Amino acid sequence: MSLLLSTWSFSRPEHESAFASLAPGADPLDAAMHIANAVEADPDVDSVGYGGLPDANGGISLDALVMRSPAEHGSAIALTKVRQAAAAARLVMEKSPHRIIAGPGADDFAMQNGIPEEDLLAPAARERWEAWRHNPTQEPGKRPWDAGLGRLYRTEGGHDTVCVLAQNNQGLAGVCTTSGMPWKTPGRVGDSPIPGAGLYVHPRYGAATITGTGELVIGNCASFSVVESMRQGADPSRAIAHLLELVLAEQPVKEEDQLGVIAVTPEGHWAAGSLRPGFKYVVTDSEGTRVEVPELVIIDEPVPETAS
Ligand code: GLY
Repeated sequence: MSLLLSTWSFSRPEHESAFASLAPGADPLDAAMHIANAVEADPDVDSVGYGGLPDANGGISLDALVMRSPAEHGSAIALTKVRQAAAAARLVMEKSPHRIIAGPGADDFAMQNGIPEEDLLAPAARERWEAWRHNPTQEPGKRPWDAGLGRLYRTEGGHDTVCVLAQNNQGLAGVCTTSGMPWKTPGRVGDSPIPGAGLYVHPRYGAATITGTGELVIGNCASFSVVESMRQGADPSRAIAHLLELVLAEQPVKEEDQLGVIAVTPEGHWAAGSLRPGFKYVVTDSEGTRVEVPELVIIDEPVPETAS
């Protein structure tokens, strides 16, 4: 039995071809990378790779993490010259003695290992940044939702990270890749490239990954927390519920904030949950591919109109 899970319906198109590469004996990380690479290259996805929205100064930076286990993971942070952030993170894992490389050194390392230098800011993303900075209601220093441009994380139309979990008879692997929060303070890093925050994979206990407002994720070591609950015997659904309840209890959550979580055991039992309605994920298994809404939604409110 093999299984492929990913966040948001924009990750749907490559699911069948990625699943085909997840046959018994294959490396599950290759299948997860297949989806991450395709989303990063798609200029219509405004939260990942080329096409991602820039920071407050109009500069774009990409973050990614790949993980197989506590001993095998790599992060590339604040890339400004290469689009293939997930591939850069995999190179950190496979070709460096380190676990995290950030900034100009991460670009240099990726390019020295064969990833091409490319322009990161797509024309449509530049236009949206121009519109944002000329918005008279925008106050410098405030986060996007405070500036009247909110709901960036709540809906299918404007959100977040692609996270992929793959499982087969070889084990588990995960990838998380993002351009981060739109109009972020230059230098801001979210949860996605931080092991245990945006993604955590343990070969014996399971894997979890998270999309949404990174600021709510980091302090709770959220992905690690989900896997730790599974280690203690919780099923994936209960582990996700515990995490989301913890976030709500311990942090100020704005009405625009969203979190979407997916988790899987080493045997391929999975669950998904979100803070609010609007989150979708994609699953492929022996029964085919479908876009799903999570069975667990913590805050009871209407589904956003733009969710698709
Ligand atoms: N979850 C992506 C970010 O906050 O950057």
